[in-house]
Amino acid sequence: MKINHDIQLSDGKLKHFLNINNLPKSIIEDIINRAEEFHDNSKITKYTGKVVASLFFEPSTRTKTTFELATKKISSDFINIDIANSSTSKGESIIDMIKTIEAMKCNMFVVRHSVPGTAHFIAESVSSDIAVINAGDGSNEHPTQAMLDMFTIKKHKGSFEDLKISIVGDILHSRVAKSLIFALNTLGAKQINIVGPKKLIPDNYTEMNVKYFEDMSEGISYSDVIIMLRLQKERMHDALISLDTYYDEYGLNQSRMQLAKKDVIVMHPGPINRGVEIESSVADGPNSVILNQVSYGISVRMAIMSILFDNHHAS
Ligand code: NCD
Repeated sequence: MKINHDIQLSDGKLKHFLNINNLPKSIIEDIINRAEEFHDNSKITKYTGKVVASLFFEPSTRTKTTFELATKKISSDFINIDIANSSTSKGESIIDMIKTIEAMKCNMFVVRHSVPGTAHFIAESVSSDIAVINAGDGSNEHPTQAMLDMFTIKKHKGSFEDLKISIVGDILHSRVAKSLIFALNTLGAKQINIVGPKKLIPDNYTEMNVKYFEDMSEGISYSDVIIMLRLQKERMHDALISLDTYYDEYGLNQSRMQLAKKDVIVMHPGPINRGVEIESSVADGPNSVILNQVSYGISVRMAIMSILFDNHHAS
C-alpha cells in the first residue's frame, strides 16, 4: 500500500494524526505544550458531545486504555468496537464498517492495524469532518507513542540539543523506533544511536541520521537516554535470533547501566519482557521512567485529540 504522508495536513493544519514522518516541528511542539497544560490540569477544554471510536485490530493495553481515559478527561464519549466480535469477522470490509460507524455520527477514529497504511487509507475514505488517529500500523509508525516519548524526555531532561539517545533492540520491526527517530531528528537531538544485531536493523538505516552499533556497550556508553524495545516476534517470519544469546548481548542489566551517564533515564514503550531485553531490577530501578511514560500518555493523547477537534471545528 502506498502511504501518503501528507494527508494528515490541510492548509498546514493537523486534520488527522497519522505519522511523524513529514510532521512540522511547530506541530510537534504544539502537542508537547498542550500536553504540558493538560498534565498540570491547568486548562482542560471540554469537548462534550464528541464521539471517539476505537478500532484495534491488534492487541493493546496501554495505548487503548490511555486513549479511553484521555477521551473521558476531555468530556467526550468513547466507544470501543469489539473487533473479534464485529461484522468484519463476518466478512465485512473495513471501509463498510467505517461507513457504518460514521452513520452513527462519530467524530474520530483511533485505529490500530497490522497492515502499514491502514489508518491513512481510512483517513482518505472518511468524510472531511472526521479525524483519524494512527495507534500503530504494522511496522510502519506509532506516532502517539513517539509524542509521549518526546514528552517524557522533555520532562526529565529539559531539552533535546545536548542529548545522546540510544534505541536498543528490534529496530527493523518496530513502529515505535521509526516514529521516535523521525521525532528526535525533527527536535534536534544531538546524537541518536541504534543498537542491535544486524538482522534486526533496517537496510536503509544510513538514511535515518543515526549511528549504528552492533556492540551494546559501545552503543549505550555515555547515553542520556536509553530506549529499550521488545522483540516483535509477531512480525518475524523466521526465528531471526536466539533468545539465549540475545539477553547476554543486548539485555539491559545493572552492569551495562554503569556505562551510561549516571543520570540516564531508561524508557520502554511496553509491554516489557523481563529477562529478555531488560533486567527486572533495571526496569523497576531509580533510572526507569517506564511507568511515567504510561501516565504521560494520557495527557499527550488528550492534547492530540483536542488539537484535532479544534482544527476540525475551525474549518
Ligand atoms: C508498542 C506497539 O504496540 O507498537 N507498544 C505500545 O503501543 N505501548 C510496542 C510493542 O508492542 O512492543
